[in-house]
Amino acid sequence: MSAHNYLEVKKLNVSFPTEDGLVAATSDLTFSLARGETLAIVGESGSGKSVSSLAIMGLHNRARTNISGEVILNLPTGSLELLSSSEDTVRDLRGKEMAMIFQDPMSSLHPYFSVGAQIAEAWLLHNKGNKSDGLKRAIEMLELVGIPLPVERVHDFPHQFSGGMRQRVMIAMALVNNPSLLIADEPTTALDVTVQAQILKLLRDMQKEFNMAIILITHDLGVVAEFADRVNVMYAGKNVEEAPVRDLYYKPAHPYTLGLLRSIPRVDQIDTHRLQTIPGQPPSLINLPMGCAFAPRCPYKELVPNNLCTTKNPELSNFADNHLTRCHLTHDQIESVR
Ligand SMILES: Nc1ncnc2c1ncn2[C@@H]1O[C@H](COP(=O)(O)OP(=O)(O)OP(=O)(O)O)[C@@H](O)[C@H]1O
Ligand code: SF4
Ligand SMILES: [Mg+2]
Repeated sequence: MSAHNYLEVKKLNVSFPTEDGLVAATSDLTFSLARGETLAIVGESGSGKSVSSLAIMGLHNRARTNISGEVILNLPTGSLELLSSSEDTVRDLRGKEMAMIFQDPMSSLHPYFSVGAQIAEAWLLHNKGNKSDGLKRAIEMLELVGIPLPVERVHDFPHQFSGGMRQRVMIAMALVNNPSLLIADEPTTALDVTVQAQILKLLRDMQKEFNMAIILITHDLGVVAEFADRVNVMYAGKNVEEAPVRDLYYKPAHPYTLGLLRSIPRVDQIDTHRLQTIPGQPPSLINLPMGCAFAPRCPYKELVPNNLCTTKNPELSNFADNHLTRCHLTHDQIESVR
């Protein structure tokens, strides 16, 4: 991994003990990200996208969650591994160094406080100042994210904003302390296409302004093609393929990605395609079977000798430059089935 990487996630595992057994929501997740770069994470519902993001942000209850691996931030002051850092240290970084826009906007905006009070509070957590300084900063942020009449609207409550404007407020709150890393979990799913495009443009503008690293979680392959530099495809808690956007679309290497893309012939024809359905169901995350988790749905497993697909877990390995896949097929076999 390059020394320029701001974030390095290595062999991250997150599991939840439940009455039915251990739910392995994230397994062996490995990727890195530089400042100014956008990595999209795609995958079916339940593939572990949100759980992984919450682990990076240190937002799981440590007493009720098993987490292992490494989450490293390369800060100007040196490298810091977050999973072994104290909760106080991580809390101090959260909001200031790394911020998240949550899948459900109303879960992070409190209905009973004005948006200004909430943005001000997020700023005051990490800065010295009084309430009126906080409010001034909130107005600046509302203006920056394109809310009209910010001086008046700073006193409004979340329900007084449209869906798109509320999403802008969320972005203002996440960015109020100029974080270096932003995780945006499905930031535009609930919005219509025009507003979605405006919000994504806003995120891109903010990225340029602050040189942020962005992890963008989305179901929408059109958004990925338009917005991301690299893509991480997740299946059953693991990243099964990672590549620059164009390589992933033109030269997919993992049978799951191939299935997702099969009905989208060319990147420039992608409009707002959601993930395509592939026959079969993702596996239960409790007692995951031996071997590749995609095997029950994989049309190519017979090509691999000795039942390897159902007995041995494939490791993440190099398919090409900057292109990783987690599959037992050889390079030539992948080229021939594509
Ligand atoms: N606290 C928990 N206890 C037990 N299982 C959990 C817990 N939180 C999440 N899970 C399970 O972990 C798996 C991954 O969930 P996650 O929310 O990360 O999926 P996702 O990829 O974000 O899906 P979506 O696209 O629907 O948002 C799911 O099967 C979910 O039910
Ligand atoms: S390892 Fe085997 S089952 Fe898994 S994706 Fe590759 S070919 Fe298919
Ligand atoms: Mg999610």
